[in-house]
Amino acid sequence: MSDLIIRSALKEYAVNFVNDFTLPLKQLTDDGAFVICDRTVFDIYHDRLHNAVVEERCLVIEASETTKTLEKCKEIIEILVERKVRRNQKLIAIGGGVIQDVTAFIASILYRGVGWIFFPTTLLAQGDSCIGSKTSINLGHKKNLLGNFYPPDQIFIDSLFLQSLAVEDIKSGIGEILHFYYYSNSPLIGKLVSNYDNLIAHRELLKEYTQESLAIKKSVIEVDEFDKGERNKFNYGHTFGHAIETITNYGIRHGQAVTVGMDLANYLSYQTGLLSRELFDRMREQLSENFPDYDFSLCDIDSYFDALSSDKKNIGSTLGCILSEGPGALVRRQIPFDDSLKEHVRAYFRLYNLLGQIRVNH
Ligand SMILES: NC(=O)c1ccc[n+]([C@@H]2O[C@H](COP(=O)([O-])OP(=O)(O)OC[C@H]3O[C@@H](n4cnc5c(N)ncnc54)[C@H](O)[C@@H]3O)[C@@H](O)[C@H]2O)c1
Repeated sequence: MSDLIIRSALKEYAVNFVNDFTLPLKQLTDDGAFVICDRTVFDIYHDRLHNAVVEERCLVIEASETTKTLEKCKEIIEILVERKVRRNQKLIAIGGGVIQDVTAFIASILYRGVGWIFFPTTLLAQGDSCIGSKTSINLGHKKNLLGNFYPPDQIFIDSLFLQSLAVEDIKSGIGEILHFYYYSNSPLIGKLVSNYDNLIAHRELLKEYTQESLAIKKSVIEVDEFDKGERNKFNYGHTFGHAIETITNYGIRHGQAVTVGMDLANYLSYQTGLLSRELFDRMREQLSENFPDYDFSLCDIDSYFDALSSDKKNIGSTLGCILSEGPGALVRRQIPFDDSLKEHVRAYFRLYNLLGQIRVNH
């Protein structure tokens, strides 16, 4: 019995929480599936994987933003074709969002589409990216510029993988999970924040939180899978977060950049009268648990503005972003790129650093 069924317009697929990922993996590889595995995961879980994969049908690749390119996808496709992959053979992705994006993109174009199955190994992938159908690869420095919608056939989540994940990657996953919680004003916001350190130390406890974020995401993608309306609100924190990733040259993990991005969106919401001071302060206290230790005074505001202005959601000379009237009340806005916005952003980073000086090495 599956734990969650996602009703995509393209196909229905199941999310299964499993205790031993090698069992379904072995079954799939016995049926001829090819595996595309994250190198770090392959090295750490080599003994378990060894018995469940077939060497000639297993490609081990680096998970980095430079892997998410057309050039790298072409290389992988050439290897698959050389090894005689057939249209009826499925691809299995084992890794985080990078391996997912690359495998799903390749699966969507190889022979005009082959099936793929996902074993997510990061918190971000387990609590967010594994559902929703999006595939994205980068073009030059432009992140996630190319892609399509191509859901997997099945997903198998084994929380064992979280045990070996770097603390920064756990924090990144928490940032993404929090953004779903703010979308729906989840009752788990307070519990997550007050158990923050404990969750990082005892990762098996994170299952409840990933199940909640997937349930929230499911409720939206089943009505707006292709991101034409309501799903846009999941960009909360992302417009400002992506620009932070760009100017720090990906020195801050995606979900932690999104955490700062949500705080900045809240600050602009407060400055423009959408959000009360009380709610801004309350959310800032919660979000600051997951802030990266980073001194933003090192950043050039003009570069930050340049990064914001190339966001693909902009229309004309306005910035398309999601602001907040409070938890559970996100709103879409187009904000003019003008001196006032620049001044608010500058003031925000000053405020962030003040807080950063108090909270170092959390
Ligand atoms: N397609 C989507 O819907 C979607 C949604 C959100 C994010 N993304 C993309 O996902 C990417 C980020 O994904 P991510 O945060 O999962 O990171 P990732 O795939 O880059 O993995 C992060 C790091 O963790 C390592 N790793 C993975 N699993 C591990 C494990 N179990 N133990 C130890 N190390 C492990 C990887 O080797 C890598 O160094 C970005 O490229 C982003 O654009 C895609």
